[in-house]
Amino acid sequence: MRILYVVAEAAPFVKVGGLADVAYGLPRALRALGHDVRVILPRYRAINGAAYPLQALRPPFEVSVGLAGETRPVEVEVSEATGVPTYFIWDEYYFGRDQVYGYPDDPQRFIFFCRAVLAFLRHIDWRPEILHGNDWHTGFLFLWLATAGRRERFYRPIATVFTIHNMAYQGITGDALLAFGGIHEHVERLEVEPPGHINWLARGIAHADAINTVSPRYAQEILTPEFGFGLEPLLQRRADRLFGILNGIDPEAWDPRTDPALAARFDVETLERRSENKRAAQEAFGLPPRAEVPLFAFIGRLIEQKGVDMLLEAAEALFTRGVQVAILGTGMPEYEAAFAEWPSRFPGQAGVRLAFDEPLSRLLYGGADVFLMPSKFEPCGLGQMIAMRYGALPLVHAVGGLVDTVQDVAREDGTGFVFSSFSQEAFLAAVDRALALYRNPAAWRAAQRRAMARDFSWAASAQAYEALYRRAVAWHNP
Ligand code: GLC
Repeated sequence: MRILYVVAEAAPFVKVGGLADVAYGLPRALRALGHDVRVILPRYRAINGAAYPLQALRPPFEVSVGLAGETRPVEVEVSEATGVPTYFIWDEYYFGRDQVYGYPDDPQRFIFFCRAVLAFLRHIDWRPEILHGNDWHTGFLFLWLATAGRRERFYRPIATVFTIHNMAYQGITGDALLAFGGIHEHVERLEVEPPGHINWLARGIAHADAINTVSPRYAQEILTPEFGFGLEPLLQRRADRLFGILNGIDPEAWDPRTDPALAARFDVETLERRSENKRAAQEAFGLPPRAEVPLFAFIGRLIEQKGVDMLLEAAEALFTRGVQVAILGTGMPEYEAAFAEWPSRFPGQAGVRLAFDEPLSRLLYGGADVFLMPSKFEPCGLGQMIAMRYGALPLVHAVGGLVDTVQDVAREDGTGFVFSSFSQEAFLAAVDRALALYRNPAAWRAAQRRAMARDFSWAASAQAYEALYRRAVAWHNP
């Protein structure tokens, strides 16, 4: 199948969150199944064109945008660095900025990107059978293909798949942006849209031939008010088109046998070597290098979704238990400030690095005993899978992809610690269960072995996407 994978970020070129890892892993796995998949994203200034040879595709072409008749010249570059042809859309005004997201005109930027994607297909005369868009940034494509695009023979046969990576980010704007995107006809308001507004995530959900989210559990959860962020009525209406497909991780990119960021490489037979990584991690976080003290790690964005509030509230009780905790990540300024106080409040027990540092994260995965992921909600989550592969046992809240990937050690096949109610008591009870198991080295080791043996590679998920694409095609051409 010819598949165009449209996304706002993709590793290794540019990464803000897990979306970028998916946009790297899934297309490669689809390619391995023999599909002609290509990735397209904006060419942000932050992308280092020297590190990944990018080739200009000439000549630039015009993209119409804004009020009728206005056009802007767009340049496209291509890279083969990942083994999947990856196209980059460049426009100085929209993408020549330091950050990927966070600008007041983000909706305009991504609508412009979508317009450029559509024009680009015409330009290279490559028509995908499937257009696979991700998150609200690509919502415009689905609305356009379902309205204006219907009248154009080139676009009409394209079936569409929309993947939701997170219901918390929806992209809600005034409906004047319809004209900005070149949609001049009347657009029916969706039940979840306030009058005069467009919800771009909802547009992907409403108009795609098939929809999925990144774990089976999250696909169920988002049908409820607790997790649907207001879009549950629309999701319920489209529930027959909604699926859950678990993300994978790239087993070569995340391999403790070969990872150069580790102080000591190891596998399931040489788990004792992890102690060298633990020691190096303790030193890197300014903690006393004590082998017998359990080392807990949190790696991720410091945002509400990740359960950061609870972690901060539980701090006293957590450190009273004699553990060490290493925090690695960046995020909301108030959370950063609160964590920044930990090392002085809990000297010798708390180590904090407010940074996005992948090599350091790898060392921590390879040296920590327990990996904390108390997320309030979690569409899939990648950290817990990487942790298991690196022999760190995850401690997780029973939501979304965390439920689908971690079983509690109360079960014979358990690989971690799972708590159900989102409360400090439940969290600390899980911590206590982790500490009890830690005092039993044989049982701990057995759990580590089971964790490391879990297969989270992309192969199975890629087959599930393949099946979803076939359904989308069938639905598109009834
Ligand atoms: C978002 C979600 C996360 C998921 C990732 C990739 O970042 O919050 O749970 O793993 O997307 O799908």
